[in-house]
Amino acid sequence: MQTGENAPTPQRIGVPREIFSGEKRVATVPDSVTKLIKLGFAVVVERGAGELADLSDGAYIEAGATIAPSAAALWSGSDIVFKVRAPTSEEVALMHEGQTLIGFLWPAQNPDLMQQLAAKKVTALSIDALPRTLSRAQKMDALTSMAGVSGYRAVVEAANAFGRFFNGQITAAGKVPPAKVFIAGAGVAGLAAIGAASSLGAIVRANDTRAEVADQVVSLGGEFVKVDYEEEGSGGGGYAKVMSEGFQAAQREMYAQQAREVDIIITTALIPGKPAPKLITAEMVKSMKPGSVIVDMAAEQGGNCELTERGKAVVKHGVTIVGYTDLASRMARQSSTLYGTNLFRLTEELCKTKDGVINVNMQDDAIRGLTVIKDGEITWPAPPLVVAPKPAPKPTAAVAEKKSGHGHGSSGPMPVKTLAMVFGLGALAFWAIGAYAPAAFLGHFTVFVLACFIGNMVVWNVTPALHTPLMSVTNAISSIIVIGALVQILPPEAGSNGRPDQLIQWLAFAGIVLTAVNMFGGFAVTRRMLDMFRK
Ligand code: NAI
Repeated sequence: MQTGENAPTPQRIGVPREIFSGEKRVATVPDSVTKLIKLGFAVVVERGAGELADLSDGAYIEAGATIAPSAAALWSGSDIVFKVRAPTSEEVALMHEGQTLIGFLWPAQNPDLMQQLAAKKVTALSIDALPRTLSRAQKMDALTSMAGVSGYRAVVEAANAFGRFFNGQITAAGKVPPAKVFIAGAGVAGLAAIGAASSLGAIVRANDTRAEVADQVVSLGGEFVKVDYEEEGSGGGGYAKVMSEGFQAAQREMYAQQAREVDIIITTALIPGKPAPKLITAEMVKSMKPGSVIVDMAAEQGGNCELTERGKAVVKHGVTIVGYTDLASRMARQSSTLYGTNLFRLTEELCKTKDGVINVNMQDDAIRGLTVIKDGEITWPAPPLVVAPKPAPKPTAAVAEKKSGHGHGSSGPMPVKTLAMVFGLGALAFWAIGAYAPAAFLGHFTVFVLACFIGNMVVWNVTPALHTPLMSVTNAISSIIVIGALVQILPPEAGSNGRPDQLIQWLAFAGIVLTAVNMFGGFAVTRRMLDMFRK
């Protein structure tokens, strides 16, 4: 941080009240205000901005923000504006040259807004344009945080409209079967919905065109239902592609069967930039049991169900079809907190100097992707990310084996000469020990060397990722050492000299203590690992 006369004036971050009808979220929360102030910024919040997310003006003041009495005062007095929804024309009119706007701007869907902002000579960062494939960018990924909240809320909405328990119950009044939930599309929102529905006790099934998500579905307690048709569904960057006619026909058949069987369908299927695929036909809705529920999360993009009405919950053929497009806003405090954290993380990236002044560095891939207008010039869309060339593959074990005639493990084989030398020296050392050490020692030593060798061979060939589970179990069976130590700790034989025996007893005692730590530690680690897979 700079000090004295050269210190830059800290910039003011403004947080207006969202004026889009029904929007309850706010772009920052008091916790994030404190952190932004620590980064050197001043924060000003419009009066009542957090009210609908249960965040009072008092809480913002306590966190160090000042309150602007009106939208006009807020927009004119801010260098940077944090928004949730894209600004309206009235809001753009309040902006001034050199200002920076950050929010969900959806540049592809809002070309007029882009022109208006460019005319105002502002800089605009659209949080939805973040390159999601950059792992460094994950902490700023507001689309993911919002989809996670929405997937959870979709289950809550389904539970609200559904007249039964999610979990199976056996009560004095009778047996209740668990609800069956089918999730179409296992992206961020779909996975959150699978987690929420299975934690409520429902039987959860899911389908996605990208087969690679099957493991994630299972790990969240769901069952992956495959379409009986072989076709790769990944379109790159973690998104799907439009599938062939043959696949779509097979998929429709499977969805029709699921519609007849399940009680709740939550649809989240989407390919970015395309209208939502119609997966649930009117016929399928008709075939569902009365009282069933469909939550169509893709309602904003036209819906995955033919009968969805955007923004509404309707009952058709006895089935409640929920087409709300504001699921994240329906959990305003939670989503505002996550969004506030995403924007704080972005501000950290924009202000690495921590002096309260941002630098929109177009050389940074993440910032470049987000920046849709720079000083009045439209810079959207960003050029595709240059993927770093993969490091040259290491020679595989098979190839290495061919060269040297030997080889194990990941560190590569030893050259034959070195190997011969190691063996030669080992044999020499063994001969020297054999020539001078007592016979009993040589026996134990041979067993020890062989045990080390076998142990090494067994562990060496296990994938590093499995070393922890392997060690936790092997630690638990170190009891063999305890038995040896217990034999040694018994009282010395009558007539023998007490001193060396006492030394052995102490050594055995230390052995028992260390092995006990090893054993109980092994059990504790095994238990923690198993707990990760328990509900
Ligand atoms: P995502 O892109 O992570 O997931 C979409 C998934 O659908 C992908 O896994 C994709 O492979 C799958 N998919 C595409 N075509 C398919 C097909 N024909 N059959 C089966 N699966 C298919 O998107 P995310 O973030 O999970 O969002 C899901 C949907 O929820 C989007 O439509 C999004 O706009 C919407 N959404 C709605 C909200 C609301 O309030 N209603 C709030 C947040 C998101």
